Amino acid sequence: MNLNELVNRNKEYTKHGNVANYIPELSKANPNCLGVAVAKCGESVIAAGDSNIKFTIQSISKPLILIMALLDYGEEIVFSKVGKEPTGDSFNSIRRLETINEFTKPYNPMINAGAIAISSLIKGKSNNEKIERILNFIRKLSNNNDIKINMDVYLSEKRTGNKNRAMAYFLKDIGILEGDVEEILDLYFMHCSIEADIIDLANIARVLACAGKDPLTNEVIIPRRIVQIVNTLMTTCGMYDESGEFAVNVGLPSKSGVGGGIMTVVPGKMGIAVYAPALDKKGNSVAGVKLLEDISNEYNLSIY
Ligand code: DON
Repeated sequence: MNLNELVNRNKEYTKHGNVANYIPELSKANPNCLGVAVAKCGESVIAAGDSNIKFTIQSISKPLILIMALLDYGEEIVFSKVGKEPTGDSFNSIRRLETINEFTKPYNPMINAGAIAISSLIKGKSNNEKIERILNFIRKLSNNNDIKINMDVYLSEKRTGNKNRAMAYFLKDIGILEGDVEEILDLYFMHCSIEADIIDLANIARVLACAGKDPLTNEVIIPRRIVQIVNTLMTTCGMYDESGEFAVNVGLPSKSGVGGGIMTVVPGKMGIAVYAPALDKKGNSVAGVKLLEDISNEYNLSIY
């Protein structure tokens, strides 16, 4: 089956699940959408279904800021702030922060607490400079200079993100966050609200799939070791408390976002991105996961 047929076959799953509404602005998404983009190493991007809809990348920003922090600070400092272990809890769970593991830090950089800690490591003199650096990095990875923030979604989360706020203040209390908590949260809300489409995300995933290289210039944007770290953490933690089931059924490093996107890396072969905003209870796109299962099986892509 080709991509169009696979999209059509999975369209019915867009009726399952619900569009996120805990960030009020996200509830405006159209739950009927389903699209996929594939960027093979050395080839142009192909897409099927709803491929030109812009949505906020939300947690898909987490592996991207992790890459930046690793480039800026190196492994030792980054992993003094977050662990490398899955939690088995939801993405915004607060409960393990107090019964925190022996390392006294969030379990991994893919959950909200971990990503807030990583946000504190983005270099820049002001938040403006920091978000501009993040945007420029994502523009380079996606080969799209128009990438920007959706201000309505950003302000909506800034207004309502009290659970993240609670976690950030806790992280400040235990010495994980340095600097002003509200500013760190603001940066976190901003990078979650970066807008992209699946073509952009497939392009980004392709860099992680194809030796960290810019497909146009062959320049290494992400060194091998960082590719390895990020792909591994996406495999073990990228789909939160569904990461195990997803690994069994799809078997590819992936990161979901509550905006409805999933960015998937097929190491050595291609980047894939899907979009379908109705989510399951764990915050992952229902039809997106189903479509990725079909794509992985149809083209025999699982890494296991
Ligand atoms: O902090 C939040 O709750 C959102 N900005 C991001 C969460 C998210 O995307 C979880 N992903 N499935």
